[in-house]
Amino acid sequence: MRGVAPSILSADFARLGAQVDEVLAAGARVIHVDVMDGHFVPPLTMGPIVVDALAPAVHAAGGALDVHLMVERPEHHVEAFASAGADGITIHVEATPHVHYALQQIREAGLRAGLAVNPGTPAEAIAAVAHELDLALCMTVNPGWGGQPFIEHSLAKVARIRALVGDGPAVEVDGGIGVATAGPCARAGATLFVAGSSVFGAEDPAAAFAEVSAAAGVEPSA
Ligand code: DX5
Ligand code: ZN
Repeated sequence: MRGVAPSILSADFARLGAQVDEVLAAGARVIHVDVMDGHFVPPLTMGPIVVDALAPAVHAAGGALDVHLMVERPEHHVEAFASAGADGITIHVEATPHVHYALQQIREAGLRAGLAVNPGTPAEAIAAVAHELDLALCMTVNPGWGGQPFIEHSLAKVARIRALVGDGPAVEVDGGIGVATAGPCARAGATLFVAGSSVFGAEDPAAAFAEVSAAAGVEPSA
């Protein structure tokens, strides 16, 4: 899994389907869905119903829904997102004492299993399960909101995470990713680049998607 993953958190929800179609047509093959519960992070966002609504178009285009659970006790929600059509679920290492169990549930549901770390959590927090991950997510802002500035010292952490998981899994960066930050993240070892405001906040999301992809050194699929 390589590429820029537009985050629908920054999309216009009054025309969500059309916005997703636009980035799929531009070559996006991973659509990032930010789920927030009002506890792990202050805001409330969306749930399985949104994944269910987007899944037919995303799958018809050969794409995948990358669900980022910023929720406490994510193990309680795996089944609902799997049934809704998620292709991968990423949980936070800070969100449950049962990280191993939750990852196992995700894999047993047939999905790609991801583990995320907040900016204040050391990379080594993923070490015990590093060999069981399909994806490791390095938060490059504090989770909860789009449009925040990239935390520069994340680059060293991206490199440590890449070293921990080896070459196989995706290393994803999320927060403040745009033309200026995608390249340095790629050089540090990232392969999946979440882009919210830099894509959907742009006048022309398709053009912005192409620009961020070029900066990341990844080829759009279409
Ligand atoms: C933040 C979310 C991000 C968010 C990124 O908690 O996990 O996925 O959409 O937004 P930008 O790309 O605007 O920083
Ligand atoms: Zn996210």
